[in-house]
Amino acid sequence: MLNIVIFGAPGSGKGTQSEKLIENYHLFHISTGDVLRDHTRRGTELGKTARTYMDQGQLIPDELMIDILASVLDEHRDEAKNGVIFDGFPRTIPQAEALERMLSERGTGVHHVVGLEVPDEELVVRLVKRGQLSGRSDDNEETIKKRIAVYHNLTAPLKEFYQERGLYRLIRGTGTIDGIFEDIKKALD
Ligand code: AP5
Ligand code: MG
Repeated sequence: MLNIVIFGAPGSGKGTQSEKLIENYHLFHISTGDVLRDHTRRGTELGKTARTYMDQGQLIPDELMIDILASVLDEHRDEAKNGVIFDGFPRTIPQAEALERMLSERGTGVHHVVGLEVPDEELVVRLVKRGQLSGRSDDNEETIKKRIAVYHNLTAPLKEFYQERGLYRLIRGTGTIDGIFEDIKKALD
């Protein structure tokens, strides 16, 4: 079993590198952003609530987010047998503590945290560009800047949390997608 947290700012390449990890390691991918966007598309109550936070570049409250993650894990117990890539979770210290609890209750834990580090200026360029193509409602310059600020305030402290546990693998997140993936593989093997 291999549980990987793919960690980094908005636009750092978490989704992009997750796809390559899935191919190589046959893991189950949980992107909390994708889970929430699926709910907003289907117009569920959760989706409506989530949308108000996402469009402001703010985080969904921890308690709600932790419940969502627990139910995704339970729903996909079989597919998650080989391990999980957690993409976009945890994003706060309480979420990281909850993940430790949830995994230990299931007899496992986090094995690696892949930290993609990319300068803020490059994040903005990438996300503005994606906004022009994808139409993701939070990919406009104003919201992008808020998301990056939220990352620095609430999410970046997790780097130290995982360094203290010896799990943080720093990866330079700039350069080619394949080159970055090679560095990730080296860090994991
Ligand atoms: P989420 O969906 O997780 O978005 P995000 O963290 O803002 O990150 P992105 O998905 O935009 O970027 P990414 O790192 O996946 O990069 P990607 O590979 O796409 O969360 C959205 C919202 O949901 C949050 O703001 C929050 O409201 C809510 N939420 C989600 N999880 C939550 C939680 N746990 N708690 C509370 N709230 C939560 O790449 C970005 C772009 O760059 C792409 O166009 C890609 O093609 C390009 N790119 C990738 N790699 C490279 C490269 N090496 N060189 C050049 N371009 C590249
Ligand atoms: Mg993503």
